[in-house]
Amino acid sequence: MKKVIFIIGVSGSGKSTIGKMLADDLNIPFFDGDDFHSEGNIIKMSSGKPLNDKDRQGWLETLNELAKKQLKETSCVIVCSALKQKYRDTLSLGIENQTKWVHLSGSFNQIFERLNSRKGHFMPSELLQSQFNTLEEPKNAITIDISLNPKEIIDQVKNQLEHKSEFGLFGLGVMGKSLCRNLANNGFKISMFNRHVDEVEENVAKNFKAEFSELTEAKAFDDISAFVNSLQQPRRIMLMVNAGKTIDYVIEDLLPHLSENDILIDGGNSNYKKTKERNEYLKTKGIHFIGTGVSGGEEGALKGPSIMPSGNEEAYKMVAPFLEKIAAKDKNSLPCCTYVGPEGSGHFIKMVHNGVEYVEMQLLAEVATILKATGQNPDAISCTLESWKDTASSYLLEITTDIFKKKEGDDWLVNKILDKAGNKGTGNWTTIASAEFGVPSTLIASALFSRYVSFYKDERILLSKNFEKQSNSELNSTTSEVLEAYQFARIINHYQGFKLIVEASNKLDWNLNISEIARIWTNGCIIRSTLMEDLVEVFKETNNILTNAELIEKLNQYKPSAKKVILQCVLNELTTPALSEALQFLNGITTEYASANVIQAQRDYFGAHTYRRLDDPSGKSHHTNWN
Ligand code: 6PG
Repeated sequence: MKKVIFIIGVSGSGKSTIGKMLADDLNIPFFDGDDFHSEGNIIKMSSGKPLNDKDRQGWLETLNELAKKQLKETSCVIVCSALKQKYRDTLSLGIENQTKWVHLSGSFNQIFERLNSRKGHFMPSELLQSQFNTLEEPKNAITIDISLNPKEIIDQVKNQLEHKSEFGLFGLGVMGKSLCRNLANNGFKISMFNRHVDEVEENVAKNFKAEFSELTEAKAFDDISAFVNSLQQPRRIMLMVNAGKTIDYVIEDLLPHLSENDILIDGGNSNYKKTKERNEYLKTKGIHFIGTGVSGGEEGALKGPSIMPSGNEEAYKMVAPFLEKIAAKDKNSLPCCTYVGPEGSGHFIKMVHNGVEYVEMQLLAEVATILKATGQNPDAISCTLESWKDTASSYLLEITTDIFKKKEGDDWLVNKILDKAGNKGTGNWTTIASAEFGVPSTLIASALFSRYVSFYKDERILLSKNFEKQSNSELNSTTSEVLEAYQFARIINHYQGFKLIVEASNKLDWNLNISEIARIWTNGCIIRSTLMEDLVEVFKETNNILTNAELIEKLNQYKPSAKKVILQCVLNELTTPALSEALQFLNGITTEYASANVIQAQRDYFGAHTYRRLDDPSGKSHHTNWN
């Protein structure tokens, strides 16, 4: 991949000499930033006045344009002091993933002596000191000690740029492998690591590399030290290993090989509280930690997943060019990857994503149960779902349509699958988080518990004998009524999922941008849908989607069908907990005077827990001796 190499550092660090030598060595054009100042800047400088940030802005933009133009044809070297981060941000704007920084670093005394030993040259120490004061050490640069001789400096820079990888991927499971291919397809130089376990995991990285042509340039390792040493500094290492204790073991294995400012990215489905702890622990070691949700399964990881990173924002900027490049793109071609917020907020929203995913899956399973009860076979169910594409388009609808089509021999494959649903724990965590934050995510709990009920297969068989169905009539609902009931429940599902995010954001001071979260879920992830696209706009106005006029209208329009379908399910003894919960929830959340008065009275009766009275505006607590 073509790149622009910015050589940066204070005056006297040897930028021009090194820049020219490097450009000659690499046989690419060299530009001295000082040659691109405007006339105004030149006049100001020659009158001995220092440039301010405003004077510099246009100049930095010119250099950015120059870099962009050059990159269309070839790599190049540009020399510019670029002491502040905001200068570097301007220089690399729009070309972040093709920009390399080389910082020539030395002490004040070293540079002062060097400058003043030059013939006919004198720099007052205050001027040099002010440069050191201005310098914001770049965290994402190749830092070179200027006490080395020029040849050694060039060798070091070349070694880092040419022989070292830009990004490391640790853990070559299904997702890790797909991400490696995605990174390589996007032109990044990567190193890949998978552990060695005798006779179980042998030469995994090497064999994987040999399998795909896009990995020709990638480096394969099963030795941690060699893997870490193969990476440019600061190192960017994405961990794609099993969530849980494994992450901690891997961190401990890596730590002795890492250097200050290296960045670890945990791309697994980790618990958000653990991510916060790991973040704090690694901070004490000088290592940045980014916890990120990654959604999209194997195919998404390969072609463009939705990525939900959180942690230190400065550290995120150093990995953003990579993550944003490999992410899916939304309808405006923006990456479905954004800095979510602090701590473990990225893993938190991924967890909620999965909760919403559980419900969307459960609703489709319930819909299929209903359609089956109306007499449709899997082919017909598939056709019905297909016909819903225009009104209820989503990735999960699409794959479920395919699933019901798939035949094996004379029968449909779906009929041969054991009806026990697995889970890896994120739905469980979402339900726990809902309880902890006091948010009624009833559909998520319902979808999770449906999986748990399914797991009691033997007991279900046993009890089905004790409780024979009392109704066997054919279900009386049209497919368009079922569609409306489904759409009704989906809106409630999204309301509840986002409500959990909003409440967590408020309580933990995360300040999350809800519309942006919806936006990065419009492509790449499992819950992408046209509804999600609508929500991006809705969340620009409000965080409560049940106050949006269009959604209110839709829910009111779908409600009669939802009631009818759910009633039919109850009468026919079909198990449709998520659909029913959706209706119950809307009934509850729209009831002005709920039955909680009775609960309060009961609490006061047996435990003197007191209650408040509607006719007492002071809000004080009352107690009654009830018997
Ligand atoms: C995704 C998925 C992914 C995975 C879930 C499945 O967004 O790509 O959510 O993360 O498929 O972990 O979870 P269960 O095994 O709990 O269903």
